Amino acid sequence: MMADKLKNPLRAGTRVGQRIDPVSVVIFGATGDLTHRKLVPALFSLAQEGQLPADFNIIGFARRPWSHDDFRQKMLEGVREFSRVPVENDSDWERFAHDLYYVRGHFTEPEEYQGLDQFLTKQAQQTNSPDNRLYYLAAPPQFYADIIANLGQAGMTHDSEAGWRRIVVEKPFGHDLASATALNEVAHSALGEHQMYRIDHYLGKETVQNILVLRFANAIFEPIWNRRYVDHVQISVAESVGVGSRAGYYDQAGVVRDIFQNHIFQILTLIAMEPPIAFEANAIRDEKVKVLRAMRPMDRQHILEDTVRAQYSAGVVEGEHVPGYCEAPKVAEDSQTATYAAFKWYVDNWRWQGVPFYMRSGKRLVTRATEVSIHFKRPPHMLFDASSEERMRANVLTLRVQPDEGIALRFETKVPGQGIVQRAVTMEFSYGASFGTDSSPDAYERLLLDAMRGDATLFARHDEIEWAWKLIDPVIEGWQSSEAPPLETYEAGTWGPDAADALLARDGRQWRRL
Ligand SMILES: NC(=O)c1ccc[n+]([C@@H]2O[C@H](COP(=O)([O-])OP(=O)(O)OC[C@H]3O[C@@H](n4cnc5c(N)ncnc54)[C@H](OP(=O)(O)O)[C@@H]3O)[C@@H](O)[C@H]2O)c1
Repeated sequence: MMADKLKNPLRAGTRVGQRIDPVSVVIFGATGDLTHRKLVPALFSLAQEGQLPADFNIIGFARRPWSHDDFRQKMLEGVREFSRVPVENDSDWERFAHDLYYVRGHFTEPEEYQGLDQFLTKQAQQTNSPDNRLYYLAAPPQFYADIIANLGQAGMTHDSEAGWRRIVVEKPFGHDLASATALNEVAHSALGEHQMYRIDHYLGKETVQNILVLRFANAIFEPIWNRRYVDHVQISVAESVGVGSRAGYYDQAGVVRDIFQNHIFQILTLIAMEPPIAFEANAIRDEKVKVLRAMRPMDRQHILEDTVRAQYSAGVVEGEHVPGYCEAPKVAEDSQTATYAAFKWYVDNWRWQGVPFYMRSGKRLVTRATEVSIHFKRPPHMLFDASSEERMRANVLTLRVQPDEGIALRFETKVPGQGIVQRAVTMEFSYGASFGTDSSPDAYERLLLDAMRGDATLFARHDEIEWAWKLIDPVIEGWQSSEAPPLETYEAGTWGPDAADALLARDGRQWRRL
């Protein structure tokens, strides 16, 4: 596998093999969906590619009365179905499974953490290796504070000569500013901020990381990356799926908490930030926070004019009839939860003054696609005899996050032949075509490796999370007030409500077709 990768000359610079200390990954919530579908398959792929240290263990912790062998068997099923690197033979699996263990326990029972601690200490002693621990909270969010507090009380969170301690916390990190701040306080009472890794799996995606490389490793983009040349920015996160088995959580959260507060704001900060002083976690996070602080708070008037909220009704998605949101199990019949939202938001700083950032996300849309597009201003004077439609077109730089990660630049060219007839063409870079189809590890692989290495660059700091909630809370509150914009309806399998198109049409603009 490694040899294959290096055959592609474009991959020669790929960063592989920075040394990782021996480590035990302790998964709280090890019998759940995330562990089975994402975490253990990601760790298996890394192990197969030789990226994990020799002394490496996974310890699952959850309520079910599983034995080590039950855990191994269930994880084998997950790895077979979801791992990027397939299980090619029994011995590959057996080597990996040998380091999987299961400890039964309840998140809210402090004494059960002592048993876990003893198990981990004994493991490290038996292999004569450092007792480094990466705790991964793949647990329902209402237990995050209990788990962190109990780990702290059991003396399991201090870095010491025996080994380091880090904790990865899944999303959602709080459900509003007050709960996120309270959770940060619990975390800081047990751990230092340098031990905290708040995950946003969008940051593990190649194109999202590539925003920084595109902007700051090239000289041609940064000079035009500002209000003088950029007309507006669009960020779209479209999902074709409905709420599925997450309806209980989703009906409480809605699209703004589920997608905007974390993923879309993370992308926005990378697009809008100033160059950091170094490619280093705190330098980058400082700049991201500055963007969030510069975002114009939404007051009542803006909420009414610049936000759209909607919910899907029954329709046809990818050829299949699907029911409306309120017909989904565990969703209230008269639920007012938004499954779609669109915003026009401003970043009030020197670089972006007056440039609208239009953002939209929804479930049950035509297709699954995430992209950012930078729409540049039109030429100030048209030399050619262009039609009104041609005059409308501007250069667009598109960063496609999923699927088919890549970058495209749209510009005008002359159609061959006599006379001047112009047409828009697109210059495309595709990760798959340029680097080989196996080139993009799953986001969880990248993020797990970074947490094991102690690199927090792609994880959110406490103040990023809190600033994001500070911006989102007024919108959610505003939507619950009597002055809220109406909850629109859109048919499943469409691009969302007409009101979202009107939001841009009002400014003489339109959403990019994904
Ligand atoms: N699934 C995803 O794709 C996904 C994506 C993004 C973020 N997340 C986040 O990841 C976290 C986990 O999600 P999930 O989908 O894996 O949840 P899940 O399938 O419901 O699993 C929850 C896990 O927590 C354990 N658990 C629950 N209460 C417990 C208790 N009192 N004591 C001990 N164990 C307990 C369950 O163990 P038992 O069943 O054995 O009791 C199970 O292992 C959530 O915060 C979610 O928001 C998940």
